[in-house]
Amino acid sequence: MSQRCARRCQVRSLGRVEARRARRRTSLVASSERGDDGANQARQELEDELLSDGTGVSMLFPRQVRRFLAGSGAVGCALGIASTAAAAPQSTGNMVENLTINGLGFAACAFWFLQESNEERAREVAEMRREKIQRQIDRGERVEFTTETGSRASKWKQVDDEWILRRLERWGKQDMLPSIGPVKGRLLQSLVREHNPSLVVEVGTFLGYSALTIAQALSEGSRVVTIDNDLRFVLAAKRFCWQANQGTRADGQPRVGRRVSIWYGDAEAHLKEMRERYNGVPQIEMLFIDGDIRQYEQYLVAAEPMMKRGCIVIADNTKVFGHVPEIQSYLQYVRESSRYASSTELLTKYEWRDDVDDAFEVSVFGGL
Ligand SMILES: C[S@@+](CC[C@H](N)C(=O)[O-])C[C@H]1O[C@@H](n2cnc3c(N)ncnc32)[C@H](O)[C@@H]1O
Repeated sequence: MSQRCARRCQVRSLGRVEARRARRRTSLVASSERGDDGANQARQELEDELLSDGTGVSMLFPRQVRRFLAGSGAVGCALGIASTAAAAPQSTGNMVENLTINGLGFAACAFWFLQESNEERAREVAEMRREKIQRQIDRGERVEFTTETGSRASKWKQVDDEWILRRLERWGKQDMLPSIGPVKGRLLQSLVREHNPSLVVEVGTFLGYSALTIAQALSEGSRVVTIDNDLRFVLAAKRFCWQANQGTRADGQPRVGRRVSIWYGDAEAHLKEMRERYNGVPQIEMLFIDGDIRQYEQYLVAAEPMMKRGCIVIADNTKVFGHVPEIQSYLQYVRESSRYASSTELLTKYEWRDDVDDAFEVSVFGGL
């Protein structure tokens, strides 16, 4: 390339960089005038460019061009090595010199190519991290603050019961998990607050969402015992309840994870054993049934000797599974047995589905 041509190319590429910067400046002004998010992004790009520890070359040539140059340089040198080696038998000299130059050229270009690729990857990773942090801020899991040097930063919010419940809701909605979800959760909490039970027993812990929801609505000193026969769920729920018991709630509410006791095993067997554990003295003031829908009646009959008169029995999914014979039998039992003072269908929505009706059957125990 002649000197004049090289100079013209340099000027042209400088002109392009300037033009790009000018366009960015214009868009920065335009977007800040509009006051939209574009201003933040343009400012971020300018800051990134200024903070980047790139060289003059990196300012003149975009990364794709640099990678292309490095890659084609490496390929050229590799071809040079191959052709020198192929010509070796008839070579009249210069072979060692050619191999050395091409070898060094190949190593330098390959190193440059790898470095450019790594930097690009690092930039992508940093961008992905920034987006992830922004999503965490949007979800309320992180809080933003200003550091001593005046720059903006963010940190995780303290993990507490609210944090855990929001996280379980997000997973629940995403994977359609069988937790009761926020709509039924609020209904359940209003029933707990209305009746203020000292002891709630829940059949079917799963990940502990409903147990923590109940615990939030209990008054100090009251507790919820929740039973599940799947060890994986019991361990996961124990972990979430432990996490929910960490930190200090900003709103001054007490920690609620410790109000939850998780029992592993078959609910019917545990409920029968409770009679010996408490010397046959009824303790349960609220029973929430959310286990296997074919066994609701068995759970209830097993719990009855331990239920106090006036105990509130709440059975989940009685509308959505209203066609299942065992649920029909359960409803007939609580609605017709003299052991129950009343039984009402409380309409709600199926978990994660605003378009599907469901119900809690709420019954008041009148005694054996
Ligand atoms: C619908 S999930 C419970 C959801 C939970 N109440 C919530 O809202 O987060 C049903 C749970 O009942 C448990 N289960 C089923 N049969 C059981 C039994 N006989 N004894 C105890 N747990 C049982 C299952 O392992 C499952 O975790």
